Amino acid sequence: MTITGAPINRVDAWAKVSGAARYSAEHPVADVAHAVLVTSTIPSGRVLSIDDSAAREVPGVLLVMTHENALRLPPKMKDGKLQPPIGRRLTLLQEDDVYYNNQPIAVVVADTFERAREAGARLRIEYERKPAVLDFEQAKQSVHPPEKVLTEETDTKRGDLQAGLLAGSARIDVTYTTPVESHNPLETHATIAQWDGDRLTLYDSTQYMKGVQRIVASIFDIPPENVTAICPYVGGGFGSKGSVWSHVVLAAMAAKQLGRPVKLSLDRNQMFGPVGSRPNTEQRMRMAALSDGRMTASSHDTIAYTSMIEDWIEPCGLVTRMMYESPNQETSHRLARMHLGTPTFMRAPGEATGSYAQDCAIDELAYELHMDPLDLRLKNYTERDPGKDLPFSSKSLRQCYEIGAERFGWRDRNPQPRSMRQGHKLVGWGMATASYPTNRSPAECSATLTPDGTALFRSGTQDLGTGTYTVMTQVAADALGVPVDRVRFELGNSQMPEAPVSGGSTTVASVAPAVQAAGKALRLKLLGIAAADERSPLFGATADQVGVDAASDGGELYLLADPARREAMQAIAARHDGPVEVTAKAEPGDEKQKYSMHSFGAVFVEVTVDEDLGEIRVPRVVGVYGVGKLMNEKTGYSQLMGGIVWGIGLALFEETLIDQREGRAVNGNLAEYHVPTNADIQAIDVQIVDEDDPHVNPLGAKGIGEIGITGVGAAIANAVFHATGKRVRDLPITLDKLL
Ligand code: MOS
Repeated sequence: MTITGAPINRVDAWAKVSGAARYSAEHPVADVAHAVLVTSTIPSGRVLSIDDSAAREVPGVLLVMTHENALRLPPKMKDGKLQPPIGRRLTLLQEDDVYYNNQPIAVVVADTFERAREAGARLRIEYERKPAVLDFEQAKQSVHPPEKVLTEETDTKRGDLQAGLLAGSARIDVTYTTPVESHNPLETHATIAQWDGDRLTLYDSTQYMKGVQRIVASIFDIPPENVTAICPYVGGGFGSKGSVWSHVVLAAMAAKQLGRPVKLSLDRNQMFGPVGSRPNTEQRMRMAALSDGRMTASSHDTIAYTSMIEDWIEPCGLVTRMMYESPNQETSHRLARMHLGTPTFMRAPGEATGSYAQDCAIDELAYELHMDPLDLRLKNYTERDPGKDLPFSSKSLRQCYEIGAERFGWRDRNPQPRSMRQGHKLVGWGMATASYPTNRSPAECSATLTPDGTALFRSGTQDLGTGTYTVMTQVAADALGVPVDRVRFELGNSQMPEAPVSGGSTTVASVAPAVQAAGKALRLKLLGIAAADERSPLFGATADQVGVDAASDGGELYLLADPARREAMQAIAARHDGPVEVTAKAEPGDEKQKYSMHSFGAVFVEVTVDEDLGEIRVPRVVGVYGVGKLMNEKTGYSQLMGGIVWGIGLALFEETLIDQREGRAVNGNLAEYHVPTNADIQAIDVQIVDEDDPHVNPLGAKGIGEIGITGVGAAIANAVFHATGKRVRDLPITLDKLL
């Protein structure tokens, strides 16, 4: 029996739909006080004074915390800069400087939320203004390289780019731009902080409880075991909740100062600045190819904004280093400082934006060569990662292209732009390549057989709403050999065994092997108990002589040679003094030294463009992916489909518009920050190719959190060109850019 991979329903579905699932701001904490964050209204300068006299007239106000009276933190920790990028440079009211608009400058606490909000609005703040850099064109006059691009080099060079460009019979040199985007999960960031002496409990909406625990402990200079982070449910994170931002620490500071638990939820507008963004990018692509399509050169040079206080780079060029067999190549990443909040990870950071530039450039090159863009990709297909000079651990991209082209009907395409129409609508077909790296971190899991016969597994990981509870339950059931209803998987508390950040599409790859190891260890431990007890039917048995009967109630161990000799796990546990408990650890080996590991996929898109109005619609998308072993056909397909939906948003809707005078997002709300809604989404056909990868991790699962958004931007932009003959190199492709 294997339940892993089966399309079982979410084990947390009932809790979700009934409202029983508690999100961070919903945990009942006795005597909790309500805080609001007050943020700057200028982009650069200094807070001269904060007059709180009007605020204090609001009944129930308990604390107005500003840089003048805030708890002094141990000096080495005053800005929280510990281990970028997870530990960020924070603004913790230790100084009066303002580096961006919407930066935290005060916390107001009252007995109700409404009173706190009213009091916050009554603060009179005087600033000294300083000049601000808010124009990217101006900012990029002075750029600097980041230290690293994730763990990779900032710049790379292979062969001779100039010679390669000259050798081609067709070449392009084009620049693409993508806008600032802001994370907008339904649940905004929220923290409840509760002190008990020098012990701190944080109910925090986070993708990384262990990070919250360690970083907050360091800032207050207390042992990590004194801090407990609790987060059983996350209402979406998308990378924004992978870091500990200022409000988490500020809530804890206010609670300490007040001697009372404090709840602090960011409002929707505060999602636009103090908790990261996807930075805008400018990506120059150069490519050349021989007349048969063989690429002779490629380059990818990225400039992105970063804040005045920290370096964070959108790693756009990584996908170009590994995707095509280009012998002469250069890539680079540069940063331009602006008075904006520090950017951060947003779903497929680098790949979402970098694949847009790379796969539009390939499309442009294909038109120069009078070649089909899929054929051009196949011509430069590689089984080795040319950047790392390593074989891929597995790569099913060729099958993805084939299946996708077949399902979409790609070969019926007339390559001529403006050649296809339906009435007054132009029709365009475009395609692109999807990819995302496969990574893994060490993780631990405990397993114990409870008196009611349920096996309880625990790991300090997170469920961002994507299915961690469900797939870990499946893996645990298979490893132990029992039905899923005999397993409970718990997460969401930093006191549980070690687990990494739920980012980089690594939760399954990292935690599932630990869950699997714990299930196997628990089974062995039970067998050991039975084998050592002469009253057990399994007395004297060894592991290789024993099987598990999952069909029996709750799982029975039996002797392979004599199936009548059997005993239920629960009965075995009863022979043991105290709970039967194990903890297992799983960690990566040296596979990264031997293989380049990525998921791949192919995306085909049809768009229609209203010739008079410029309105773009996306009637159908076909996405075919090789992602190793899919852990749950239902949640997995949903996650890939969700990624495609976001890709449609990236291509057509999303953009944080910054006011050039004040540096504030002018569309900092869900009404004006456009994301796709049901009316924007039509047919999405997700397909998975069978892919066996023994190298990535024991489960062979590659991670599907991020690949879905990649490739979609380019496929849509390419389809829009095919429909209209107009090449829009600036996302999002809004109708004004077509008219
Ligand atoms: Mo993801 S952007 O690594 O949460």
